[in-house]
Amino acid sequence: MNKKFLSLWVVDPIKTYAAPARVNLIGEHIDYNGGHVLPCAISLYIKAAVSFNEEKKINLVSEDMKGQISVDLSNTQYDKSYSWASYPIGVIHILREMGYKVDKGLNMLFSSEIPLGSGLSSSAAILVLTTYVLNDLFDLGLSNLEIAKIAIKVEREYCGLSCGIMDQSAIALAQKDKCLYLDCASFEYEYKNAVLEKTKIMILNTKYERKLTDSKYNERVSECQKALSIIKTKYGVDNLCELDPKDLPDIGILLNDDLLYKRVKHCVREEARVKAFVTALDEKDYSLCGKILNESHFSLRDDYEVSGTNLDVITEIARNNPYVYGARMTGAGFGGCAVALVDEEHAYQVKDEVLTKYKERFGYDAEVYLIDTSDGPKVL
Ligand code: GLA
Repeated sequence: MNKKFLSLWVVDPIKTYAAPARVNLIGEHIDYNGGHVLPCAISLYIKAAVSFNEEKKINLVSEDMKGQISVDLSNTQYDKSYSWASYPIGVIHILREMGYKVDKGLNMLFSSEIPLGSGLSSSAAILVLTTYVLNDLFDLGLSNLEIAKIAIKVEREYCGLSCGIMDQSAIALAQKDKCLYLDCASFEYEYKNAVLEKTKIMILNTKYERKLTDSKYNERVSECQKALSIIKTKYGVDNLCELDPKDLPDIGILLNDDLLYKRVKHCVREEARVKAFVTALDEKDYSLCGKILNESHFSLRDDYEVSGTNLDVITEIARNNPYVYGARMTGAGFGGCAVALVDEEHAYQVKDEVLTKYKERFGYDAEVYLIDTSDGPKVL
């Protein structure tokens, strides 16, 4: 990276930083419905090498994307043409709008190992990383929780995705060997042990690029809002995940709308699954954990309708292997990655089988990662 940096801006970087990707174990599409989620950061990183410039320019280059983006520090309004660079530019824009003193030009070179559009939160990683970098360089005094909140604000207000709070929190607050048990209604969190006995977390990347994710995502958010507005008063709740699963039949009658009912059913049952999963994890009952993962997938496939053929096939291949406890899609869906719990001793055997069978079915290669958990953003 340093060589490339020098060739671009004829100076060495003053510092290099890194932020991890994340995988969500359970609690999908319920962070924006006031539910609980259980993500952990993983050892795939995006890095940024930085230096100041005298021209008050924000110069951005990515080793993984084409082109160099250059904007004036005083002109950081959203522009579609910025593509990936709208994330770092958005952070600068929002921080300045919030009154933080970010008043020098910057050269930033990014390099990422996080596969894009894969459900491992490459966008949250670049948002958290940029906020972390600016906090350090301009001495803004932000805690990691505040960094997460600013990254969320940028994604929502600048980039236009009505996202929940999971991804940015999972990355900014990450601790190695832990997953984050986050209550998305109150923003309270605790850490759970992610070091499993004789069991590994495996990520299955379908390499099927998500399409329409943002528009479908925003569509789900508004369907949930619509359902909530109908249910709210009668059940005295502020969000869907507060509902009691035993009220579902009556809620179905009240809604009188099959599609909205399916969305609500997913949210209410997924919240119950998260709690059951956390207990099973504490008790090291990985068979039960796996069963819950499978149920989560079926609900995301049939009720929430955010899976897809590739995700359904790859999880089914995994599920049919006797050394896999369970598997489900992870992240926003429509493509990207799944997560599985597998018997450690047979992990490579599982990996080989998934890769072979997936290629037989689709004619191209999937990728499988046996992950390690990671700390949050850091200076290298
Ligand atoms: C995306 C969003 C998150 C969350 C997941 C689905 O990753 O950024 O806030 O809603 O989808 O669980």
